[in-house]
Parts: sequence; C-alpha cells; structure tokens
Amino acid sequence: MDHTRRRVVVGTATAAAATTLGLPPSGARAERKEEADADFDVHVELHAVQEEVALRPGAPTRVWRYRGKVLSGDASTLEASDATYLGPIIRVRRGQRVRIDLVNELPEPTIVHWHGLHVPDTMDGHPRFAIAPGQRYVYEFTVLNRAGSYWFHPHPHGRTGAQVYFGLTGLFLVSDDEEAALGLPSGRYDIPLVLQDRNFDDNNQFIYLGSGLTDSASTNSLDRPPMMGGGMMGGGSMMRGGMGSMMARMMGVLGDDILVNGRSEASLSVERRLYRLRVLNGSNTRTYKLAWHDRSPLIVIGTDGGLLAAPVRRDYVMLAPAERVDLWVDFARWPAGSELSLQSLAFEGGMNMGGMMTGRGSLPDGAPFQVLALHVEGGPRGSQEAAPPARLSEVLSPDPRVAANFDRPKIFELTMGMMAWGINGQSFEMLEASPYETVKLGTHELWEFRNDAASGMMGMAMPHSMHVHGVQFRVVERSVSGRFVRDDESAKAGFVDEGWKDTVLVMPGERVRILVRFADYPGLFLYHCHMLEHEDGGMMRNYRVRA
Ligand code: C2O
Ligand code: CU
Ligand code: CU
Repeated sequence: MDHTRRRVVVGTATAAAATTLGLPPSGARAERKEEADADFDVHVELHAVQEEVALRPGAPTRVWRYRGKVLSGDASTLEASDATYLGPIIRVRRGQRVRIDLVNELPEPTIVHWHGLHVPDTMDGHPRFAIAPGQRYVYEFTVLNRAGSYWFHPHPHGRTGAQVYFGLTGLFLVSDDEEAALGLPSGRYDIPLVLQDRNFDDNNQFIYLGSGLTDSASTNSLDRPPMMGGGMMGGGSMMRGGMGSMMARMMGVLGDDILVNGRSEASLSVERRLYRLRVLNGSNTRTYKLAWHDRSPLIVIGTDGGLLAAPVRRDYVMLAPAERVDLWVDFARWPAGSELSLQSLAFEGGMNMGGMMTGRGSLPDGAPFQVLALHVEGGPRGSQEAAPPARLSEVLSPDPRVAANFDRPKIFELTMGMMAWGINGQSFEMLEASPYETVKLGTHELWEFRNDAASGMMGMAMPHSMHVHGVQFRVVERSVSGRFVRDDESAKAGFVDEGWKDTVLVMPGERVRILVRFADYPGLFLYHCHMLEHEDGGMMRNYRVRA
C-alpha cells in the first residue's frame, strides 16, 4: 500500500485510526446513566436491520447489521461505529444481569446466539427459536462467564452463513475483577480485531454464493425454505452461480478481500507502548495462520474463554472460524517509524480449491496474505520491551479422570456422505438428540472429534472448526489418525490449547479430545462445525443435557 495514503488514512492513533479500523471513537462514552429496570443491570435493544455502509470508495455496500440502544443501565455498555457493518461492541461485567431484546427488521427469520456464553438453552439462540420479520425475542440472563472476548451472531436454520456474511456479527466483551487487577492495556490500547473475508462485485456489493443482498432479499431468501437436513444437491437456487457456487455452498465460502473490523486494506497507527489485541476470526470458512511480518513471536495471553494461566509464545497462531486469541504486544519492540504487518502465513491442509470455490479468482484457504498494516509512531518510550505478567489467571490443568466416560470417550466422526456433511453420519435435526448425544447435568465427559473420514472426499482434505454451545471446554489431547497422513505438521506449532476454549480446529487426519462439563442448565444445545457453510449444510447436531 502506498505510504502517503496510509498515513492519511491512519492519521494519529485515536479518532482516525478508530475510523479506519471501524472502531467506535474512544472517549465517546455517553453521559446517560439511568436506573436499570428493577431486575436488570442493563437493558439493551438490538435491532437486526438492512442498511448501507460506505466501506470502499464508490457506492455504499448494502449490509445486514445489528444496531443497538441501551434502554436502561450503563450507557457505555454499547459502543457502535458507522465506519463498519459490525454490530455494537457489548461490554458487560461478570455477574451482571442483562436483558437484551432482539427486534427482527430483516426480510427473513433470524435469532441471535451468544457465542461462548454459558446461558440457559432458551437464551442460547438455537434455530428453533428463530423469529419472523417484525418479531421480538427477549433474552434475560446473568453473565456467569469469566472475563473474555465472546461474540454474537445469527443462528437461523440453513441461513447462518448468509446472515453472518452480509454483516450480522458483534463482539461481547466480559470483564471481571481478576482481569482488572492485572492492569492490562485498556481503553484505546485494548483493540478488537475482527477478521473476515468477503467478495465484492464491481458495484461494492457483497457476493455470497453467486448473489448479492438485493437479489437475496427480494427473490431468493424469501421464497426459499431453509435447506433441510443438509441436502446440498436439491433445489434450484444453489445452481445459480454455477458449479463454483455449488462447490462453495458445500465446501465453504472464501473471500478475496480480507477485512479487519469491516474495512479492507486495514491499517493502524500505534504508539510505542503496550497494547492488547483481541483477535476474532469472524470469517465464514477461512482459517488464519497469524504471524508478525518479521516473525517475532506472538505473545498470547488469552483464548476463547478468557485469560490463560500464564502467557505463551508462538511463532504463529492458527485461528479457525469463531476462535479468538488475545495478544499482548509492546510496540516499543520496533523503532519509531517502522511499518509492520500482521500476516497470515501459507499452510497446507486447507481447502486448496482456488477459483473453483467461489467462481472468482480467489484467495485459497492456506494462501499467504497481509491481514493488517501497522505504523509505529514516534514516542517517548525507550526501546526496553515490557514483559507480560508472569501469572495471568487461575486456570488449572484439566484432569480427564473426572469424566464420567473416562474409559470410553465419545467419538464424533466428521463425515461427508451423499454430498451432505454430518457428524457420525447424521445431519441436523431441529429437535432431535440421540441417546449418544445425551449427557447428565453436572457431569464431565470426554468427547473426541475425528477428522478421519470426510477428509478423503473427492481427494480433498478439509479442516473443521468444532464448536460446542453453552460451555467452555479444555483440550486434553490431539493425535493423528493412523488412516491418514496429515499433509502438514506445522499447524500443530500454532495451536493454543492451554486455556478455556469453545471452538477447536481439527486438521485433516487429526483427532482432538476435549473435556466438557455440563453444568447448571438442562436442555437442548448445539454442537457443530463453525465453518458456516458446513454448519448450514448439516455438520451440526443437538446434544441434550438431562437433569
Ligand atoms: Cu458461533 Cu453455533 O455458533
Ligand atoms: Cu456458539
Ligand atoms: Cu467443517
């Protein structure tokens, strides 16, 4: 990118950088501070709306997005920005009682899921609770999660991929006393980075599976029932856009443009001081292998479910769809005036189908690219680099022996049969959970996701990003299947399995064993691949927690 232009775009730290990155301007905390509704610390109304946003020079981009307002309670709970389509950042403290009203102003059903939060099943945004246009869904829950970077997105049956792609995504950041005591970089030095990839047409409109939003809203999606049971070959609509679109519907949508907080060619000007960068992979299917341009180690202080016990260093970090990683960076490491970048490095084992995936000249999964350009400003700080706190949080090592099924871990094969994704050969059924998928409230179980079988499909190896609703789990073991030789061992060095997770990358030929505790809430919850076209295509099931 042209240096002069970048400087203009970036300006200096605050407002301009915030705008460039699609962040709310700092210091724009509203004054309003009312009494909350008696039962809630904060009451928010969240509208899913159709809008236009100027994302690139030229025509504005039609998007679907979340708009919020605080009806009562701390007005700084929401931070919105007009520079992006991303929803407002919702900031709450652990223990707060929140009410959030979702109002559907889209032309099709939707529902919001709070990704990573531990909430009752009726509050979790299961597709069975999707509301029609014009309707309202009221969420009420207490925030029990530890401090961490959670997020929210739609979850209607068969349409999650499209709705997320058209812009419906937001961050849900939880803070707590343990985290506050650490004095981590905060305010404008605590920067969320939401990574997404998109395809734009010549008129700046998002193209999803061969069609744009106007198309989709006026003709296709309204007339089209959601795909049932993961059948990907039925119905004419998926043929629109030809073979490339059909393959993308099945294998996953990849975009040529990498967006950070909703902006392409994102750049950021930083001071020579400490920052906390909270990275969310909000992409439909793309996995990132994050690294600094000069291969300085990334210092990771947190993952999906909050802070690690202690910081870990990685030369690169694999970040699959829905995973989060919290980075500690001291930009005093680099001289004033340096031009840095956060990159995604090449890796094997992604879906290397190139243009076939999107029907466009595309950036394959596993191809290298720049994610974010950074400019280091001059500043008073010396070149002494600050180390992160040696101890971050109370996180004990997992003990698999607490599992009720310690001797017989439950196996979940990620499968592809008759051109439909599945788990143990079964596609999604709205209200069903098998006896195998039933667990007892208050117990721990060992689950093992096996990416053995599906990876042979048409000779293509596919990673999967496995997510379990309603819980945070621990990764206890990774192994490689004897039946497959994985292409790439290097992904391994980029996993951060030390802390609490709700989503885990399972590379082709890999098996990942997790320890999950099913506490507090009986009911029906989802587990699925978070590559959204896989999820919409049937790689999703319910599990039932029985009291
Ligand atoms: Cu981000 Cu079903 O979840
Ligand atoms: Cu989730
Ligand atoms: Cu998948």
